[in-house]
Amino acid sequence: MFSLDERLSLCASFVREGTSLADIGTDHGYLPIWLLLNEKIEYAVAADIRRAPLESARANIEKYNLTDRIKTVLSDGLDNIKADQADDIVMAGMGGELIVRLIDRTPWLRTSKKNLILQPMTRAEVLRKYLCLNGFWISEEKTCISCGKSYCVMLASYDGTVRPCSVRYSYIGSLDKDKSPEAKRYIYTVNEKLKKKLRGYTNGTDEYDSLKALISGLTELINSEESKW
Ligand SMILES: C[S@@+](CC[C@H](N)C(=O)[O-])C[C@H]1O[C@@H](n2cnc3c(N)ncnc32)[C@H](O)[C@@H]1O
Repeated sequence: MFSLDERLSLCASFVREGTSLADIGTDHGYLPIWLLLNEKIEYAVAADIRRAPLESARANIEKYNLTDRIKTVLSDGLDNIKADQADDIVMAGMGGELIVRLIDRTPWLRTSKKNLILQPMTRAEVLRKYLCLNGFWISEEKTCISCGKSYCVMLASYDGTVRPCSVRYSYIGSLDKDKSPEAKRYIYTVNEKLKKKLRGYTNGTDEYDSLKALISGLTELINSEESKW
C-alpha cells in the first residue's frame, strides 16, 4: 500500500463513496488505484492522451491486481469515455484553460448527477469564471500545501444556473470564508502573482486601477486580524 501526497489526497477526499470514477490525465494512475485499494470506489476509468503515461498506469494497475476494476483508455479529455462509465470525474494536474476546453466539449457532463473534481495547476481564475458563466456550481473548494506549493481543488456540478463571477471570485473563489492556514497561503500566493502582473500594466489605466483595487482587497483580507488565520 502507498499513500497519496496532499494534493491527490485532497482530490480523493471529494470522490463519493461507491462511485464510478474517470481520472482524466491519470499519468501514473495512483489516484484510482488508491481509491480502489481503500474500497472507496467500485470501478474506474484511467485516461490519458499519451501512450507512455497510460503504460505506466497500466503497469501500476497490474502490480496492484486491479486490472478487472480499472480500465485504461487512450483519450483526449473525455472524448473516448461514455457517460455511463463515470459519475465522478477528476481532472487534476492540468492547466485551468485545458480543463475548461475538456469540460466544454463534453455535453454529457451537463447534468447534476456528475461531480467534477478539478485541480488546476495554472489559470484557476479562467476555470472558475467558465464554471460560473456556463451553469456549473462550485459547491466546495479546498486548498492544500504539497511539497511547499499551494493548490486548490474544486468540486463542481451542473445545475444550469448562470452565476455572476466577480474578478475577485475568479481568483479566490469562496476561499475568503475559509479560515485555514492553507487557504491563507493560497490567497497570499495568488496576491503575489497579481502584484507581479500589475508591474506589466500602465499606471493610471482602468486595468491598472482595477487590478490594484483587487490586490488591496486581498492584502487587507490576508492582514485582517478578524480572520484569525
Ligand atoms: C502532470 S500530469 C498529472 C497526473 C495526475 N492527474 C496528477 O494530478 O498527479 C498531467 C497528465 O495529463 C495528461 N494530459 C494532458 N493533456 C491531456 C488531455 N487533453 N487529455 C487527457 N490527458 C491529458 C498528460 O499526458 C499527463 O499524463
